[in-house]
Amino acid sequence: MAVRISRAPLATAVAEAGGIGIIAGSGMEPEEMADEVRRARSQTDGVVGVNVMVAVRKFKDIVQAALREGADLVIAGAGFSRDVFKWCRDADVPMVPIVGSVRVANLSERFGASAVVVEGFEAGGHLGTDRPLKDLLPEIVEAVDIPVIAAGGICTGADIYEILGMGADGVQMGSRFAATVESSASDAFKQMYVDATEEDVILIKSPVGLPGRALRSPFTERLAAGDYPRIESCIACLRECGKDYCIIDKLVRAQEGDVERGLVFAGNSVTRVHDIPTVAELIERLCEEWRQASERSCA
Ligand SMILES: Cc1cc2nc3c(=O)[nH]c(=O)nc-3n(C[C@H](O)[C@H](O)[C@H](O)COP(=O)(O)O)c2cc1C
Repeated sequence: MAVRISRAPLATAVAEAGGIGIIAGSGMEPEEMADEVRRARSQTDGVVGVNVMVAVRKFKDIVQAALREGADLVIAGAGFSRDVFKWCRDADVPMVPIVGSVRVANLSERFGASAVVVEGFEAGGHLGTDRPLKDLLPEIVEAVDIPVIAAGGICTGADIYEILGMGADGVQMGSRFAATVESSASDAFKQMYVDATEEDVILIKSPVGLPGRALRSPFTERLAAGDYPRIESCIACLRECGKDYCIIDKLVRAQEGDVERGLVFAGNSVTRVHDIPTVAELIERLCEEWRQASERSCA
């Protein structure tokens, strides 16, 4: 989760607890990505990957910095890059695209993807589809022979049980982990998650050219009124940008604690986030909820 929500501390904690920890590189310079991967690598022998949006202008440099520092896998969404398959193949590292349709899932498999992340409309951040996960997932499980990781709206062990039962080989969770002790989001950001109700979860128009799911704030009210804040400085961080406002600036502000003038990305499942546990506590809880769901279905 960008910008700077999933950094080395969160990725390390997830990897140490037996998951796959992901460092989000969008909005970082390549050197910062290299530092984050190095930090995580020095703290865990578990699996640590990176996620970078194809839409980012320095996509190649950021991915290559992560590969040089020993990232275990690369996840890429918000666009499709043929080149990243080659960079990953050369580094002998799995490449995992984020897909929102059978067409892109098939294309990914043909280009050599090791797995795909299927992200439904419930997800937080930029959205590549308007279809719910439970609609999309069966089609994609049917269409490809590589592992399928499901994302969007998964918040509890019971959700994981249900989604694996639909044929997914794994799950990717965002929002639930943004509100953990090890997440690098500010306290104000995490508190917005805990306090969020259904009325707070909205869609915004991102200058990336995609809709984004976020929490209502004074900033999103300004956007809704068509009152776009002036771009103070532009480093052309995106390949293509609508330039209505600077989304990186707004995401960074929220990550640092200015949730009034910043943008807090969150998925639908945020309404079921009621606390800020450590990653170890959360994963223990998810396993227990999964066990209870599996016992209920056997009874
Ligand atoms: C705060 C936040 C930031 C995110 N940033 C990214 C990102 O940089 N790249 C990406 O591919 N997905 C991003 N996502 C999407 C998540 O990786 C994940 O797929 C999605 O949130 C799953 O839905 P969930 O939040 O209901 O678990 C972000 C989500 C959130 C909540």
